[in-house]
Amino acid sequence: MPKYWPKDADACFDAPLSHSAPLLRMKMIARNCPVQETDTAKPSARFEDLRGILRYVPQFRQRVFVIAIDGALLHQPGFPSLLQDVAVLQSLNIEVVLVFGARSQIRILAEKRGLTLSSDDGMGRTDLPTLEVAIEAITRQSSELMADLTALELPVVISNALAVHPAGVIDGTDLEFTGRIERVDAETLGVLLKADIIPVLQPLGYDSRGTTLRLNSDAVAVEVAMALHAAKVIFVSEAGLTNPDGSRLAQLSVADAREMYRSKDARHDVNLLSKLRYGALACQEGVPRVHIVDGSQDEALLAELFSNEGVGTMIHADEYQQIRKALSSDVPALLSMMQHSMEEAALVSRTREQIQSRIKDFFVLETDGNPIGCGAVHSYDEENRKVAELACLFVRRSHKNRGHGQKLVAYAEEVAKQRGCDVLVALSTQAFRFFEEKMGFQVTDPSALPTARREKYDRSGRNSKVLIKALR
Ligand SMILES: CC(C)(COP(=O)(O)OP(=O)(O)OC[C@H]1O[C@@H](n2cnc3c(N)ncnc32)[C@H](O)[C@@H]1OP(=O)(O)O)[C@@H](O)C(=O)NCCC(=O)NCCS
Repeated sequence: MPKYWPKDADACFDAPLSHSAPLLRMKMIARNCPVQETDTAKPSARFEDLRGILRYVPQFRQRVFVIAIDGALLHQPGFPSLLQDVAVLQSLNIEVVLVFGARSQIRILAEKRGLTLSSDDGMGRTDLPTLEVAIEAITRQSSELMADLTALELPVVISNALAVHPAGVIDGTDLEFTGRIERVDAETLGVLLKADIIPVLQPLGYDSRGTTLRLNSDAVAVEVAMALHAAKVIFVSEAGLTNPDGSRLAQLSVADAREMYRSKDARHDVNLLSKLRYGALACQEGVPRVHIVDGSQDEALLAELFSNEGVGTMIHADEYQQIRKALSSDVPALLSMMQHSMEEAALVSRTREQIQSRIKDFFVLETDGNPIGCGAVHSYDEENRKVAELACLFVRRSHKNRGHGQKLVAYAEEVAKQRGCDVLVALSTQAFRFFEEKMGFQVTDPSALPTARREKYDRSGRNSKVLIKALR
C-alpha cells in the first residue's frame, strides 16, 4: 500500500475529486444496489474517481471510527442520508461506534415545559429538574435513532459501557447530576464491534449507586475512542470551523486546536469550542486523527474521509505531510529551496517568471505547512502518443533519504496517468541512478523525447540522461 493518501495521510491525485457522483456510486455498491449510468458524466471518468475512493478501503478496514453526531442534526432533512453514510462505513468493515449529543432536544423540551436549565451541555451544573428533562429528551432521541438505524437493517445496541462518577465540586460549584467518565468497558464494546454490531452511546451514564448522570457527548466520544484505540473520532457538528476570511479551516495541529479553545475564538460557538478541546485531548492521548465536519452539508462524512481535499477540519497529532498543487505564493520559497541544486547544475536554472508561467504543472511536498520538496509534470500531445515529463524534482537536503523523492515521483506518475499519458520521461544529470534503481525508469535515447522537448534538449547542451517509464 503506497503511503501517500489524500487528506488523511497521503495525496496522490492531481485534481480534487468531485464528491457526489463517485460517493453515490460507492454507497450503491456498498449497499448492493444496481448502479445506473447517467448522461452527465462518462462512466470511465467516474470509475477513475471511484477507484481513488476505494483505495482508502484497505487502510480503514477493521479500524475503529467513533462518530459523534450533534443532537441538532437528528431533525435535519439530511439526517437519513448521514445514517446511510454510517451504513456505508460499516459495510466497508469499518468498526463504527455512534455517540450522539442532545443539547438541542433538551433545550426544546425545557422551553416547552417552561423550565430554565441549569446547563445544557453536560459540562456545567445539572440540577434535578434539568436531569429529568435531559433523561426524557435523550431517551426519546435514543428510541428514534434505534428506529432509524433498524430501518437501515443495521444491528445496533444502546450500550452502558461507561463507568461514571459524579463530577463533584468544581471551582466551588457542586455540579450535582453532571457525570465524569471513570472507565470505558472496552472489552464489551470490542465484542459488539467484532460481531458487526454498532454500539450507540448516549450522553448519560450510571454510577455504582444507580444514579443517572448527564454527560457531555464530545467527552463520551473521546473517552471511548481512547479506550478502543480508535483510528479516528469524527465530530459531525451543526457547523464547521472557519478561517478569519470565512473559508474552511482544513487542518489544525493539536497546539493550534488547544489555543483556539483556550482563547475562546470568537468565530466559533461553545459547541465547536468543545470539539476543539476534546479533539486536542484525543490526539494528545493517541488517537491519530480527529475530524470536525459540518453535518448540514450533504455527504460531509464520506467526503471528509474519502476525498482528496476533505470537506471539514482535521486535527492531527503528528507532523502532517501532504503533496499539493503549487500556488503562485509558493514560488519564492521554491526558488530559494532549489537555489543550491541549480548552482550545482543538478537542476536547470529557472527564473521566477518561468516557474510562474507553468505553476499549474508544479506540486509541493510540505510538512506542517513548510515546503520540503517539489516537482512538475509537463505534458506533450504527440500525433500517436501522449508524453509526460517529470521536471524539477527536488527534495531539501535536510529531508533527503526519507523516501520523499520516491513519493514525489509516485505522485507525478499518478498525475501523468490521470492526464492520459502513455509514458513518463525525466532528464537528469546527477540523479539518473535514483530513477533507474528506485523508480523503475530506463535510460533511453534522446530521440524518445517529444519533438518540441527534443529541440530544447539539444539547445541546452546539458547532455542530461533521458529516462523513461511506461505508464500502461
Ligand atoms: C534525487 C532526489 C529527489 C532524491 O530525493 P530523496 O528524498 O533523498 O530520495 P528518497 O529518500 O526517496 O530515496 C533515497 C534513495 O535514493 C538514493 N538516491 C538519492 N539520490 C540519488 C542519486 N542522485 N543517485 C543515486 N541514488 C540516489 C539514495 O541513496 C537512497 O537509496 P537507499 O534507499 O538504497 O539508501 C534528491 O536527492 C534531490 O533533490 N536531488 C537534487 C535534485 C535532482 O537531482 N533532481 C533530479 C532532476 S529531475
